[in-house]
Amino acid sequence: MLEVIPTGAALGAQVRGVELRSVDDATFIAIHRAWVDHQVLLFRDQALSDDDLITFSRRFGALDWAPVQENGRRFVEGKPELYIVSNVLENGVAIGSLGAGELVWHTDMSYLEDPPKASMLYALEVPAAGGNTSFCSMYAAWETLRTSLKARCAGLRIKHDGTYNSGGYLREGVTATDDPRSSPGAIHPLVCRHPESGRQGLYLGRRRNANLVGLPLEESEALLDELWAHVDDPALAWTQMWQVGDLVMWDNRCTMHKRDEFDGSARRIMHRTQVKGEARPVA
Ligand code: SIN
Repeated sequence: MLEVIPTGAALGAQVRGVELRSVDDATFIAIHRAWVDHQVLLFRDQALSDDDLITFSRRFGALDWAPVQENGRRFVEGKPELYIVSNVLENGVAIGSLGAGELVWHTDMSYLEDPPKASMLYALEVPAAGGNTSFCSMYAAWETLRTSLKARCAGLRIKHDGTYNSGGYLREGVTATDDPRSSPGAIHPLVCRHPESGRQGLYLGRRRNANLVGLPLEESEALLDELWAHVDDPALAWTQMWQVGDLVMWDNRCTMHKRDEFDGSARRIMHRTQVKGEARPVA
């Protein structure tokens, strides 16, 4: 029997009693409902091949192709949807992306016009300490924002930088810049309405090179600093402490996530898929 156990934090639930290798239609509907309700779901003790991970992810929609890794490699042979998040080197070559450093708060690929709606991260090897992933609720961030700040956000649009990834690495084919006015990226409403839950959430994406369209740079920076100071509050977050066999899926439209650093000599291997967004973020 499928059981959904909320974390007790601002978001997140553990789902028990499900083998993601074989999900029937009724179970999928219950998982989908829980995901929209809780924003992040944790499934423990899964035994998934890459094909199982891709098949389960496809229940939610068509998958994006994985972004190019920092070393210019793109795909796992024959599985273009699979992105490897790892610090492991094989014969001196990184098998994945994002290394062992801290990843700052971000929403996946919000620098695109149509960002992915869901991400799934499956743990194959985890370090004994560190490398935990925190998630924050952007519904709660918006709902707890003081009224005067909410008023200043009204009608604003924000540019989501496409220059750097969350580990600070330059994306393929982009020129390095730290000028928020000219850096490349998609423009989205600052406050978006979720197409399935109907709830409003702040849509910040990531801090670096963000720009509030139409505001003088200093004003944009000052308002963004106030919003980020508000969002970086443990009361809005829940932290996943990884075990091998964990699959965590998050709703990319109403959450951000970040990762702690870990000892670079330890091994961490995670496989990730992303489900295409069906609609542009709208106010
Ligand atoms: C990611 O940002 O997609 C990776 C998160 C992690 O490594 O825990």
